[in-house]
Amino acid sequence: MTRIQLLPRKTINQIAAGEVIERPASVVKELVENALDAGATQIDIIVDEGGKSRIIVQDNGHGMSADEMKLSIERHATSKLSADEQGNWDLLNISTMGFRGEALPSIGSVSRMQIKSQYISGEAWELRVEGGRISDLQPCPPFGDSGTRIKISDLFFAVPARLKFLKTDRAENMAISDTLKRLAMARPDVGFSLVSSGRKSFTYFAHSGKDAGLQRMGEVLGKNFAENAMVLDHIRDEVRIFGFAGLPTYHQSSSRHQYMFVNSRPVRDKLLHGAVRGAYRDFLARDRHPVLALFVELDPHQVDVNVHPAKSEVRFRDPGLVRGLIVGALRHGLAGAGHRASTSIADYALGKMKAPQFAPDRSTIAANGAKAFPQQSDFAENPAGTDFSTLAARHEYAPGEIQDESPALELPLGAARAQVHETYILAQTTDGIVIVDQHAAHERLVYEKMKQQLAEGKVPAQNLLIPEIVEMEEAAAERLLSRTDELAALGLVIEAFGAGAIAIRATPALLGQMNAAQLVRDLAEDLLQFDAAHSLSERLEDVCSTMACHGSVRAGRRLGAEEMNALLRQMEATPHSGQCNHGRPTYVELKLADIERLFGRR
Ligand SMILES: Nc1ncnc2c1ncn2[C@@H]1O[C@H](COP(=O)(O)OP(=O)(O)OP(=O)(O)O)[C@@H](O)[C@H]1O
Ligand SMILES: [Mg+2]
Repeated sequence: MTRIQLLPRKTINQIAAGEVIERPASVVKELVENALDAGATQIDIIVDEGGKSRIIVQDNGHGMSADEMKLSIERHATSKLSADEQGNWDLLNISTMGFRGEALPSIGSVSRMQIKSQYISGEAWELRVEGGRISDLQPCPPFGDSGTRIKISDLFFAVPARLKFLKTDRAENMAISDTLKRLAMARPDVGFSLVSSGRKSFTYFAHSGKDAGLQRMGEVLGKNFAENAMVLDHIRDEVRIFGFAGLPTYHQSSSRHQYMFVNSRPVRDKLLHGAVRGAYRDFLARDRHPVLALFVELDPHQVDVNVHPAKSEVRFRDPGLVRGLIVGALRHGLAGAGHRASTSIADYALGKMKAPQFAPDRSTIAANGAKAFPQQSDFAENPAGTDFSTLAARHEYAPGEIQDESPALELPLGAARAQVHETYILAQTTDGIVIVDQHAAHERLVYEKMKQQLAEGKVPAQNLLIPEIVEMEEAAAERLLSRTDELAALGLVIEAFGAGAIAIRATPALLGQMNAAQLVRDLAEDLLQFDAAHSLSERLEDVCSTMACHGSVRAGRRLGAEEMNALLRQMEATPHSGQCNHGRPTYVELKLADIERLFGRR
């Protein structure tokens, strides 16, 4: 049997490094956090070869005296914890980024580390640690005001096995940049710069004042995000949730751009991500993710950060409260933003719009289906081509039907002017035009209405005069019949009609005239994808999008003026109608100013 022995210091530190220093980005994180704890207002970072060959972090914090510097590389030595009069060390009252006293000795045990620090008194010292071997402290020439400059060369040279786990320089650079961005978002009052392999990656200036946070967001996530985000700020039970949450129309394919902070510490927390997913569930398809930066501030005693050596996970005393607050704050913001679609979509549309290559004549406009104009065929049937009064009578909707003084112009979605391609409604507002995707809008309306009717009890059904018999595969009929009660609660009343057939007795009233047979067939198809354990109301968005596909306002159906205006008014009255169930916008607005820009009038 092997005898128990105490491990040498170097080995102990390398074991700790295994947990805390996973890759170059972890070194950057630890050094920058130390700089923040030292009260720095400017932190400059230089890395080479993805941080593998060199990392330099320089700060203008308070620096270290000679004695502090010697202690800083000792394990379990920290200036960030203190004991009360009874000698108790409170691990639940942490207001600094660091507190474990192990980052520097860990880094020093696996790399070549040089620390230069100038204390506020003016003295400056230098210390080197190579693979855990500590050299003597040397005085060095002062390098300006107080501050610390730490250089790490040849990371992991002392533990070559680790090198094999490193990714390409590009991937390591991205991880470094991501780490820094998170820290920079948490501290808009501090300036940051990153130079990577001699190239400037970014420079963020220190900001002050109440817009500091938003300014930093703009620097880090781009101006586009700042313009497409809602500002949140909620306090309940001494927990504050604030930050910036992207509109649902500003979605991404991964949750990589969800930044969470607890008491200014960047964290990756399942609870917080789950809360965000829950809040956006109704607005985004499952594979799309919002962009946001959320800050949780609470009494340090309400949260334990001593959970993981890298301190990226936290444990809340009252997780339910924090989750509820986040979901509440986001939902509240989303309800307010229901009528705001992403501005970048209007920008995108503007970018796509080009002056036509040829001058369109009337027939091209007609062929493109602009219904407000008399169509080519009307002229053919009516060779004189002048009798607009009879044309107008034959059209469901004719030019001039809505007068310029229409009160609807003042409403957010304006007055319907035309339907084009039997898919889009063109409406005029006081200062622009609105283009509505009638199908997407209707899908959202059906969903919101059904949710509301379900909450009130039951979705009203409209009985069919004669039940409609639909034949289908026996298995499909079985699938539908096993959900008879659930479907009835959604306003679709079906019953068995012999083997391989179903009788439809009633359809949801809110869908209006519809192709019930096709709806039932499509629902049978949907059920194939649904987990038997899930109720239909849990999959309501899918059910509703199938239903809306067969409702009266689907794409490709002509709408009369009244129907169009009714749809616009319904959208205005319905929360969240700015985007469809899958996060696509239901309408875009072009301001007159934008249109004027298109034509070079501005
Ligand atoms: N940039 C710096 N400026 C001033 N003092 C520093 C700096 N970096 C480290 N120190 C001092 O060295 C000590 C040790 O740093 P180290 O990062 O190893 O531990 P820590 O920050 O206390 O805890 P943790 O291991 O959780 O980061 C710190 O407590 C601090 O007093
Ligand atoms: Mg530290």
